Amino acid sequence: MELKEYLQSEATRIDAALDRFLPRESELPHSIHQAMRYSVFAGGKRVRPILMLAACRAVGGDSERVIPAACAIEMIHTYSLIHDDLPAMDNDDFRRGNPTCHKVFGEAIAILAGDALLTEAFRLISSPALMGGGAPEGVLAVIHEIATCAGSYGMVGGQVVDMESEGDDAIDLATVQYIHTHKTGALLKASVVAGALLGGATAAQLAAITRYGEAAGLAFQIADDILDIEGTTEQIGKDAGSDVARGKATYPLVLGLSAARVEAVAMMDEALRALEPFGAEAECLREIARFIVQRKS
Ligand code: IPE
Ligand code: IPE
Ligand code: MG
Ligand code: MG
Ligand code: MG
Repeated sequence: MELKEYLQSEATRIDAALDRFLPRESELPHSIHQAMRYSVFAGGKRVRPILMLAACRAVGGDSERVIPAACAIEMIHTYSLIHDDLPAMDNDDFRRGNPTCHKVFGEAIAILAGDALLTEAFRLISSPALMGGGAPEGVLAVIHEIATCAGSYGMVGGQVVDMESEGDDAIDLATVQYIHTHKTGALLKASVVAGALLGGATAAQLAAITRYGEAAGLAFQIADDILDIEGTTEQIGKDAGSDVARGKATYPLVLGLSAARVEAVAMMDEALRALEPFGAEAECLREIARFIVQRKS
């Protein structure tokens, strides 16, 4: 199957499940359920859930078992985007090709929609009905991994340093690397680790998949930085040029555009190297790593 068709068919699978799991707009309170659904279904590549399914397959697991956790990771990611766009953070007006959540529903509902998506994600993965008869210990390990990577040891920590580094001319590569591996890398790594855990990975498989996730996660954010400069608002579905306008600590700022491109490719190569012990069953993970650095949106 072509990469584009594969990504599309996996995204459709995730979207159908998200629609099943998210509260209906008709449920009270309507405004927050509308806002949650508005942001989740505004578009979005579904890279993290697709990675989770692919990691599960790479270790020989049944990807169907992973669907609730895959939806949970997309809910957490969407919450992070809603909050990232708020006036107190990046203050952006467009996301996924549409006005940002706070532009449509106001700041208070946008904050609460983010809070509710984060909480709903953990309600979903901890639901006994969705454990599919699997051992609770496996699900507990997944919850622990996702919580660690989403909080102040992971994504939130990266967001804090991202904010605190705005406008700092003396920013160094180590700090930008910390920001990127945390604000973005952590959730991508958690996605593949969760997929591998739920797929019944051996310790060696888990270690390889973890290395893949770390490298692909960093590559993803370097590519995001490059797209912020080279992409148009229409292509990327969010305000282009936002990083330079806010004096963000990015790879292109610290290294220059062409060295940032080289670094993104180096990280992709590292991700591919981590998969060397795997055969054809990891081909989807390999394709996604290449897509991460070549994408235009
Ligand atoms: C954007 O993530 C924010 C980052 C962490 C770089 P994506 O590029 O995955 O955004 P969507 O989900 O496709 O909108
Ligand atoms: C994304 O960083 C980090 C999170 C949302 C956690 P950015 O601020 O670069 O993401 P975009 O470019 O607004 O999507
Ligand atoms: Mg940001
Ligand atoms: Mg932003
Ligand atoms: Mg960005």
